[in-house]
Amino acid sequence: MMTAITIRRPDDWHVHFRDGAMLRTVVPFTARHFGRAIVMPNLVPPVTTAAAAAAYRERILAAVPAGARFTPLMTAYLTEATDPADLVAGHRDGVLTAAKLYPAHATTNSQFGVSSIAAIREVLAAMERAGMPLLVHGEVTDPAIDIFDREAVFIDRVLAPLLREHEGLKVVMEHITTREGADFVRAHAPRLGATITPQHLMLNRNALLVGGIRPHYYCLPVLKRGLHQEALRNAATGGEACFFLGTDTAPHMKHLKENACGCAGVFSAPVALACYAQVFAEEGALERLEAFASLNGPAFYGLPPNEERITLAEAEAAPVPPLPVGAEGELVTFEPPRLGWAVISA
Ligand code: DOR
Ligand code: ZN
Repeated sequence: MMTAITIRRPDDWHVHFRDGAMLRTVVPFTARHFGRAIVMPNLVPPVTTAAAAAAYRERILAAVPAGARFTPLMTAYLTEATDPADLVAGHRDGVLTAAKLYPAHATTNSQFGVSSIAAIREVLAAMERAGMPLLVHGEVTDPAIDIFDREAVFIDRVLAPLLREHEGLKVVMEHITTREGADFVRAHAPRLGATITPQHLMLNRNALLVGGIRPHYYCLPVLKRGLHQEALRNAATGGEACFFLGTDTAPHMKHLKENACGCAGVFSAPVALACYAQVFAEEGALERLEAFASLNGPAFYGLPPNEERITLAEAEAAPVPPLPVGAEGELVTFEPPRLGWAVISA
């Protein structure tokens, strides 16, 4: 018999929508399945002020297909020049849900990010007083640190001291990729939460590197070894409230990924929800999919869960053809080695 599951409409607590033609191409895929999404601010130039976030939100809303009910939740990109008053006013006015900390040079468009946490101490203190969550890209950029260790070292050097200094600050460790990340989040819940991507649940670094290099599986933080994948699968499917859905869907043009110096990011929006369902089914945890996808995130952010429902079922999911983006080229959608689930009504 076909297995199917109906859950409250989920939210995606970590997306990249970009801008312009690419934004118009990708927004409908997220809006089709998700009620809300936390929108990353790493445009060029980055979204650093409440006014820029409000304008960006309008451009996103203009790309939502007629009839879809979808709410983008905006974030500001922290720099060493961020004005705490602007940030907190943006939060109070309902424009900014959170702010994102990119360590400078850690990932795509992070060159405007923060080199020294001490330089944003006042900003963090203001966010703490305002109850505004901090979202972190949790990797150090020290060239001496191996790329596979950068998350664990970030926890020791940056995140643990930051949580001690700002005891009331709510923090999301975005896209955790390691056992150390999952354990650290558990130990500091409920003021610390984490998102987990479909690719880090479905793949480990062998998928990226064995039998040829697969640029469409390259993202940051990079896929880790199998024991970390196992730890993430246990975290996501185990029913703990501190872990929630965040796809990190991150579109890049095909020719920039299939490149001698390919860029980081996996465009997963069209298939992400089906991927999560498959992982939960494989783990015998389908009854906990709704908590991960639709309940834990809203609870962390202090928002009500969505009231609509969405149904997924076991089915051979059709591959998503390359998507043309204006005159620039095309996007390639994440293709896991096997996908045996699909959204059947949204
Ligand atoms: O792989 C990634 N892509 N990781 C990030 O942190 C940023 C993202 C992007 O913007 O492309
Ligand atoms: Zn991201």
